[in-house]
Amino acid sequence: MEALGALGAGAALLLGLYALLYYNFVAATRCRNAVSLRGKTVLITGGNAGIGKATAVDLARRGARVVLACRDKARGESAMYDIRRESGNSEVILMILDLGSLNSVRAFAQSFLESEPRLDILINNAGIFQAGQTADGFDRAFQVNHLAHFLLTHLLLDRLKRCAPSRIVILSSSAHMYGKIDFRTIHKPAEGMWKALRSYGNSKLANILHARELANRLEGTNVTCYALHPGSVRTELGRSFPRWVFRVFGFMKLFRRDCDAGAQTSIYCATEEGIERLSGWYFVDCQPKVPWPQARDDQLAKKLWEFSERLVGLTT
Ligand SMILES: NC(=O)c1ccc[n+]([C@@H]2O[C@H](COP(=O)([O-])OP(=O)(O)OC[C@H]3O[C@@H](n4cnc5c(N)ncnc54)[C@H](OP(=O)(O)O)[C@@H]3O)[C@@H](O)[C@H]2O)c1
Ligand SMILES: *[C@@H]1O[C@H](CO)[C@@H](O)[C@H](O)[C@H]1NC(C)=O
Repeated sequence: MEALGALGAGAALLLGLYALLYYNFVAATRCRNAVSLRGKTVLITGGNAGIGKATAVDLARRGARVVLACRDKARGESAMYDIRRESGNSEVILMILDLGSLNSVRAFAQSFLESEPRLDILINNAGIFQAGQTADGFDRAFQVNHLAHFLLTHLLLDRLKRCAPSRIVILSSSAHMYGKIDFRTIHKPAEGMWKALRSYGNSKLANILHARELANRLEGTNVTCYALHPGSVRTELGRSFPRWVFRVFGFMKLFRRDCDAGAQTSIYCATEEGIERLSGWYFVDCQPKVPWPQARDDQLAKKLWEFSERLVGLTT
């Protein structure tokens, strides 16, 4: 009897602890504004899955024309139909963009600029957690997560300026915590899971530094930008991990939010009125948050900008 009581108390304690953790870390703060996006065009990279898809549904519901920039036609189309159905908005279209190829980025930007008169909100959402090398010879995570988005943003900037007030939202991560920018190695391909972990952290640090320097350069244009951490979200981001990782860390699922909750800070940064003075900041749970020190280094942000310009061939 006593053992049973203790067991019950233990179970109740665990449940309570989980509830506490759940409401503090898993359940996300929701973006509560009802801002309409009628007449506006949103571009989302990687809008076919995970956080990007959930973001697209919400912004389409607000009446925006939503362009999904995806690398795979079949996956992109199936997401496009899902998003149209879920949002009731038929102005959701697909365009092909592979961030693993800088030529694809240039071709995409050209056809986007030719076919779309407006760009009001650019969401640099696509991301990868995978080692290896791109067609351009760079580290995959560094290129897909940072460098290709850097080039894309550059190529679309005049259109954003013409449609001002407009916004750029950059998906970073709390993983920037262990990121480091070493200009001798950051762009060089790395193999293996541990290297992939490093590269991912580095690229997510680059995302925050990108937003920071971009905000400086955009001062006075009415184009603003925001970096963010979406929380820990149940998506396909870990698809390249070995199976044992899922077996060992499978329980972590309990501590992950769903994609709809994971999209809230992206939606907030894309739509909330009055946050323009926080251009260049880092957001978590629909609030500005001070990132780790390496992400607050303005000199480093400027150097990374110039380094990225050289790598994509904008300067020599
Ligand atoms: N999930 C989390 O817990 C978490 C935490 C912190 C930050 N984030 C960030 O959130 C963002 C969204 O990730 P997610 O969690 O939603 O992951 P996801 O479910 O894996 O979605 C990633 C998206 O990026 C696309 N993508 C990957 N490589 C691409 C390429 N070369 N060209 C074009 N698109 C490409 C994917 O397309 P395919 O379907 O074709 O692969 C997919 O649409 C990422 O930037 C990630 O770093 C996520
Ligand atoms: C920015 O917006 C303000 C307020 O709407 C406006 O007065 C100003 O002319 C705009 N500046 C530019 C460069 O568009």
